[in-house]
Amino acid sequence: MQRKFILSNDYIFGEALNKVLSEQPQDLINLIKKSGLRGRGGAGFPTGLKLELVSKNDVGAKYVVCNADEGEPGSFKDRELLFNHTEKFIEGMIASGYAVGSSKGFIYLRAEYKWMLKKLLKKIEQLREKNYLGKNILNKNFDFDIEIRCNAGAYICGEESSLIESMEGKRGEPRNRPPFPVEHGYINSPTLVDNVETFANLPYIVKYGDEEFKKYGTEKSPGTKLFSISGDCPKPGIYEFELGCTLSDLLETCDATDVKAVQVGGAAGITVAPKDFNTSICYSELPPEGSIIIFNKSRNMFEVLKNFTDFFKEESCGLCTPCREGVPKIADAVDKILNKESIPDSQIDLLMELADVMKVASKCGLGQTASNPFVYIYKNRGILDE
Ligand SMILES: Cc1cc2nc3c(=O)[nH]c(=O)nc-3n(C[C@H](O)[C@H](O)[C@H](O)COP(=O)(O)O)c2cc1C
Ligand code: SF4
Repeated sequence: MQRKFILSNDYIFGEALNKVLSEQPQDLINLIKKSGLRGRGGAGFPTGLKLELVSKNDVGAKYVVCNADEGEPGSFKDRELLFNHTEKFIEGMIASGYAVGSSKGFIYLRAEYKWMLKKLLKKIEQLREKNYLGKNILNKNFDFDIEIRCNAGAYICGEESSLIESMEGKRGEPRNRPPFPVEHGYINSPTLVDNVETFANLPYIVKYGDEEFKKYGTEKSPGTKLFSISGDCPKPGIYEFELGCTLSDLLETCDATDVKAVQVGGAAGITVAPKDFNTSICYSELPPEGSIIIFNKSRNMFEVLKNFTDFFKEESCGLCTPCREGVPKIADAVDKILNKESIPDSQIDLLMELADVMKVASKCGLGQTASNPFVYIYKNRGILDE
């Protein structure tokens, strides 16, 4: 189940680009569609379809943005790709630029990753010198260059429309959607926003073909996935597994024992109890999110919950009422539970109702998912308190 595909050393920069640039842009789009690759940034949108939507929007300038914001607590797999596999995702960005008809790409870099800015800029410069970036790349009449923009530290700027607002120099707040970035993105132009890991998959799919890619994973969730594993285990780190693996596979690999719960997908993710450790990690079952945090039996899950709700209280942008008002109410209840104050059942019922309202009425994914850990941990307190 553990596979080295994206993290493999069997990689030579330029092999994929030489192939892509000698074919038609639509050929790459067709290949990625056939491969079944889905975005690795969280939402799991089909990557080939997104490429096609941007390519079909023929209205002038278009942009390619690599979402390197990686703000989800417990996720650090993009950091590894950014620093140690730089050429892979950049090659994916250039190929995507060719496919959609864009001549300008951006890397939107997490504020806390500014320490690697120098290395990234150097790599970009080296690729310019080798004519893999810049004008008339490899004499194929294709121009593409990359600029780096840095986040200032807000989690919400990982959400693609806030990211674009921030790139435009505005306050990082989500936009109303539709229109989606594929139509109206950066400076109102069609924009492809993909996660670092999504871009890093492209050179491999080009090199080995869609059939080889589909040999990994499951029929509906092909390929491999990077997991950042942290928390209570002796071997934390970044692991690459085929989709369709289980939490039990991951826990065994990092030698975790005595596990009470695993948080999959960071603060906004799903708290999984041991009874569900054998669920398949794929798009139709347990969503393949990069952040895996392990809690052993010494942990008080309400303290974990406090950590998550405080995080959302800090990071909510405050634009819409359900999230701005709902998150502090949940955080207050968690404080009361931790202080062993009694909360009437009627108030808990109201909080559960509030959680439902936040899910449907919040403007963006932050508010729509911020109540997840409260609902799950409270409802399963019997199991998680054991
Ligand atoms: C609050 C919030 C934070 C997000 N943070 C990130 C992030 O740090 N990196 C990322 O790739 N996607 C993040 N996303 C998802 C992006 O909006 C977008 O779906 C993704 O970049 C698309 O890339 P993909 O198709 O390759 O997955 C976030 C979404 C939300 C709602
Ligand atoms: S859901 Fe929260 S983060 Fe998203 S727009 Fe509303 S207030 Fe801002």
